[in-house]
Amino acid sequence: MIKKCLFPAAGYGTRFLPATKAMPKEVMPIVNKPLIQYGVEEALDAGMDNIGIVTGRGKRALEDHFDVSYELEHQINGTPKEAYLADIRRLMEECTFSYTRQKEMKGLGHAILTGETLIGREPFGVILADDLCDGEDDGVMTQMARIYAKYRCSVVAIEEVPMEQIHKYGVIAGSEIEDGLYMISDMVEKPEPEEAPSNHAIIGRYILTPDIFDILRETPPGLNGEIQITDALLTQAKRNMVLAYRFKGRRFDCGSMEGFVEATNHYYQQLKEKG
Ligand code: UTP
Repeated sequence: MIKKCLFPAAGYGTRFLPATKAMPKEVMPIVNKPLIQYGVEEALDAGMDNIGIVTGRGKRALEDHFDVSYELEHQINGTPKEAYLADIRRLMEECTFSYTRQKEMKGLGHAILTGETLIGREPFGVILADDLCDGEDDGVMTQMARIYAKYRCSVVAIEEVPMEQIHKYGVIAGSEIEDGLYMISDMVEKPEPEEAPSNHAIIGRYILTPDIFDILRETPPGLNGEIQITDALLTQAKRNMVLAYRFKGRRFDCGSMEGFVEATNHYYQQLKEKG
């Protein structure tokens, strides 16, 4: 039912310097696949085949990844090596890709607002490709689309994190209306542990209704002078309803070295098991 998915990918990836000096964080590979490709596969599995990517300077490799590479195709045509391209070819056949640039890095909320031109007035998914999710049974976006189909409001994915990690996340407070599903009453961006309303941290998966763009336009810069999606979502929660969904599966914070290495081990193991 939701056809569009937005990938904010304009950030500098400073935690991975110098790797990200000339290469976007989103094309860094976990085993043999760039982070962004895992994200697009998750979106497509949820039926979202219209992919919008918010890029910035130095992100050309992202566009090239989802385009034909004639020389390479010619070189391996008819050889067994073609099998390596099967997954990416499927994405290129089944998805459309559109790009827009965020000219100044004014935060995730601003990046999402920049993507309005690709989305228009319909509900859409948002995937932060550096949060790599391996869903249990179904992909996380598929699980969230199911929640949206039932409640027709914005949905954020949450995970319970240890309190000493809570300062890295947007954190929600809310009442549980179904097992693992919360109606949000408050949200705080990157709180100190003593100010955190819970240990339910927002991770990089959202389904947003298009009124979020109007709210983002009115949202003043918050923490670090950035336009925070958390602030806009709190306004939306107060005006209407926003749900927080404790997804089933495992998430790797591939924006950090520890998460990146864990994800590499996890997916390498999976690949070996497949044989
Ligand atoms: P992060 O803060 O995790 O990513 O933003 P970053 O800025 O790339 O990395 P570090 O912290 O410097 O290492 C979360 C997501 O939001 C996007 C990023 O690309 C990332 O996917 N983002 C953030 C934007 O697209 N634009 C922004 O202005 C900020």
